[in-house]
Amino acid sequence: MTTSGGNNKHGSLYGIGVGPGDPELLTIKAQRMLQSVAVICFTQLDDGKESYALGVVRGVLEAAKPEFLAITIPSDDNTPVSPDTWSDAAKDIAVHLGQGKDVAFITEGDPMLYSEFFNVLESVKSVVPNVDVEVVPGVSSVMAAAASTGMPLVTHGQRLTILPKVYGIDHLREAITNSDTTVLMEVDRDLLEALANLESLGLAGKATYIRQASTAGESVVEDISKLAAEDLDYFSLLIIRR
Ligand SMILES: C[S@@+](CC[C@H](N)C(=O)[O-])C[C@H]1O[C@@H](n2cnc3c(N)ncnc32)[C@H](O)[C@@H]1O
Repeated sequence: MTTSGGNNKHGSLYGIGVGPGDPELLTIKAQRMLQSVAVICFTQLDDGKESYALGVVRGVLEAAKPEFLAITIPSDDNTPVSPDTWSDAAKDIAVHLGQGKDVAFITEGDPMLYSEFFNVLESVKSVVPNVDVEVVPGVSSVMAAAASTGMPLVTHGQRLTILPKVYGIDHLREAITNSDTTVLMEVDRDLLEALANLESLGLAGKATYIRQASTAGESVVEDISKLAAEDLDYFSLLIIRR
């Protein structure tokens, strides 16, 4: 996606998908742009761990030596990101854009699928309405996870549902019942409990758990009844094929 505000004095904002983890799954276009922008922006958990997206692209940035702009967000799932976080980040980004520097916000997977890029884009637009924006798609974790299972997500005429989190057992039941394949992202203890309560849908043997797809830490678990809460990883998802 490219939108042009026709303002040549400002730098451009790029939303760049860096793929699911394997640096070899970074697109050639993403690599070229990352090596040419002045500023790399990313979200950083307040627990100090390196940003996942930044870890993927560290190698390709070595020679380019860009400036880094971290947006710090809470590592605790129960603490929502404050709206000020995005408006403060937008002000910082706007300063760089105003100096004619291009800024790339990097995101794991694809920027248009459950990504914080949306928050960044909306807040930057409220500060710099005419900002030039370009989005570089990335290999989504959904695609990488399907590849790891060796089975298509969906084939001819089948229905696919992707859910970011489960908000209740009825929601989950409805999605699974109405889809041939359901992908559940952001797997957590509540989700596992909800699935255990859906035995009546005959899910036994039909859900596959994929952790850290495409990375050295990847694992694929076919029997999710063997999964314990402590095995769960933020970078994991479930594929349910009915
Ligand atoms: C905020 S969403 C970001 C999705 C991302 N934009 C994409 O296209 O994959 C974060 C969720 O993506 C999934 N995810 C990201 N990377 C993954 C990986 N390498 N393996 C499995 N799941 C992953 C997990 O479900 C995680 O909770």
